[in-house]
Amino acid sequence: MAEIIDGKAEAQRVKDETAVAVEKFRADFGVAPGLATVLVGDDAASATYVRNKRRSCAKVGIESLHHELPASTGQGEIMRLVRELNSRSDAHGILVQLPLPDSIDSREVLNAISPDKDVDGLHPVNQGRLLAGEDGMRPCTPLGVMRLLERCGVELKGARAVVVGRSLLVGKPVAMMLLEQHATVTLCHSRTRDLADEIGRADVLVAAVGIPEFVKGEWVRPGSTVIDVGINRLDSGKLVGDVAFAEASERAAFITPVPGGVGPMTVAMLLANTLTAARRQESNAGGGGR
Ligand code: GUN
Repeated sequence: MAEIIDGKAEAQRVKDETAVAVEKFRADFGVAPGLATVLVGDDAASATYVRNKRRSCAKVGIESLHHELPASTGQGEIMRLVRELNSRSDAHGILVQLPLPDSIDSREVLNAISPDKDVDGLHPVNQGRLLAGEDGMRPCTPLGVMRLLERCGVELKGARAVVVGRSLLVGKPVAMMLLEQHATVTLCHSRTRDLADEIGRADVLVAAVGIPEFVKGEWVRPGSTVIDVGINRLDSGKLVGDVAFAEASERAAFITPVPGGVGPMTVAMLLANTLTAARRQESNAGGGGR
């Protein structure tokens, strides 16, 4: 029977560490780290996510500068706001909540965010830095996945890691981060042939396809570590991951639950990223930093 990886507890540890580091940052630089949040339109789920992010910021001492715009807002106005936030020294991080309304070119908006303030790690410059192994802002959910793997003490060097899902937000970056830790990485997706065989060889499995219980328990390699990034709501209202949890936990050594696994880590890593961005900007501005 697998050991359940407690993402809630680990997220709290990250938040506690961040709160301590924020206090030191304030003492060093005389300002608070600041995260600008931009919410466009009236998507209820997005509003809830942004509210949670702002509440979490407040708890660790990060200021949030919130901007809420109606769904009818034009591309030009959003671009102007992003440029204004780029130039404001109190906005160390900028988070534009996705999805944006259909009328908006999201890529153009995300690409306009200064890479140094891109706490979501979605700007092509940051994706390129990840590929090149350079310091940059890394996306929050993959960072959370890596932190959970570190917490359960799994040896990544030389391990076979299989990632299912090739999204920009999770699959591709997490594959690069696993490679950076010297795992042998196979990046699978919906068109992969013999997926069960690929998964059967995985010492570490990261599932991020967004299909409820897509990975069957019998595919999971006995003794492996399973990280389930999926959060899918069934018609019954129940939340399930991308992995059939009950059967998979009979075989895996470690497994994340849904909810309470990777989910809580994303906001925690956003806070950590905001502090990282703030430290880099204030150090470059020449103030404090001892
Ligand atoms: N919408 C759903 N997930 C995310 C995320 O990680 N970042 C942003 N900006 N929007 C999202």
